[in-house]
Amino acid sequence: METKEKIILTGDRPTGRLHIGHYVGSLRRRVELQNSGLYDKIFIFEADAQALTDNIENPEKVRQNVIEVALDYLSVGLDPSKSTLFIQSQIPELCELSFYYMDLVSVSRLQRNPTVKTELQMRNFSGGTPVGFFTYPISQAADITAFKATTVPVGEDQEPMLEQCREIVRRFNFIYGDTLVEPEILLPENAACLRLPGTDGKAKMSKSLGNCIYLSDTADEVAKKVKTMYTDPTHLQVSDPGHLEGNTVFTYLDAFATDEQVARLLPDYQSLQEMKDHYTRGGLGDVKCKKLLTAILQETLEPIRQRRAMYERDIPAVYEILRKGCEVARAAAAETMDEVRRAMKINYFEDQALIEEQARRFASKN
Ligand code: TRP
Repeated sequence: METKEKIILTGDRPTGRLHIGHYVGSLRRRVELQNSGLYDKIFIFEADAQALTDNIENPEKVRQNVIEVALDYLSVGLDPSKSTLFIQSQIPELCELSFYYMDLVSVSRLQRNPTVKTELQMRNFSGGTPVGFFTYPISQAADITAFKATTVPVGEDQEPMLEQCREIVRRFNFIYGDTLVEPEILLPENAACLRLPGTDGKAKMSKSLGNCIYLSDTADEVAKKVKTMYTDPTHLQVSDPGHLEGNTVFTYLDAFATDEQVARLLPDYQSLQEMKDHYTRGGLGDVKCKKLLTAILQETLEPIRQRRAMYERDIPAVYEILRKGCEVARAAAAETMDEVRRAMKINYFEDQALIEEQARRFASKN
């Protein structure tokens, strides 16, 4: 048997610009995976059709963010010569595949999907749940399997989606014979990166809360946002002992700072741990910590900003990158779809044996 290719697939809903939470939670890792040389193919896509499932009256928002997210992808170092960057809606094979997967999943199984459950509660659709929204885990299984992905790097909130996908694969292969590949989830490694809190200390960065630092923020915007960041409300004087738990500045330092950077930018300390010890003992002020965090964020974000500026100067070329990516992705999905049609016995016209067999059967009748 041929050794299985290692294929990565992952994506984002284009509903807003990407922020540093996305960066530490997924983008940074994607770039490492891309450059590791360990994968045969890498597909990164914008799930615009999925974004429309709860933005159906807001297509302009999705349209605007498709280019923003593409720029975010390119600016963090996703390289179109190594990764196929594409847009979900441009791959009609995904709809076709979803249509057949719908028969392999029960309504009650979808109702039990924990991610769908919480999202339904959060959204509280006024006119009832759109069928497309309710079934998006099925469409997501199509996204993954159409490209025979073996590895899906996503956050832990996506675990139920992957489980549902794996069930569909097993059921399909059981009924129709080995056709689809069961994907593995690849979770973020660093606990501080699982979910970066907002600058206000709230659990999550979110556009509606206005507590995000965007990859596309200017240096001034970043500095301003760090200045007003939530720290330790009991740390009133520099000499007071400080607390690290729930202290957003230190959570961000955990996610971004290397000991080398700490030692270089704040020569009083050799490592982040030494700095933390001083903060907990008392005697280290928030302003100093924030200055360090600002400097470290700028070191991370500056090359990203520069790359973004370069791509922003030639937007038609960015659309061209996406168009070419869609072409490559579509060819891959079409190949899988051929195999699926064959397995499901709906490949009438390419099956010469079928035509001859039917001809014989009817000939013997007459
Ligand atoms: N649901 C994912 C999110 O909200 C986006 C997504 C759609 C996705 N299809 C996917 C992620 C397939 C990984 C694989 O972030």
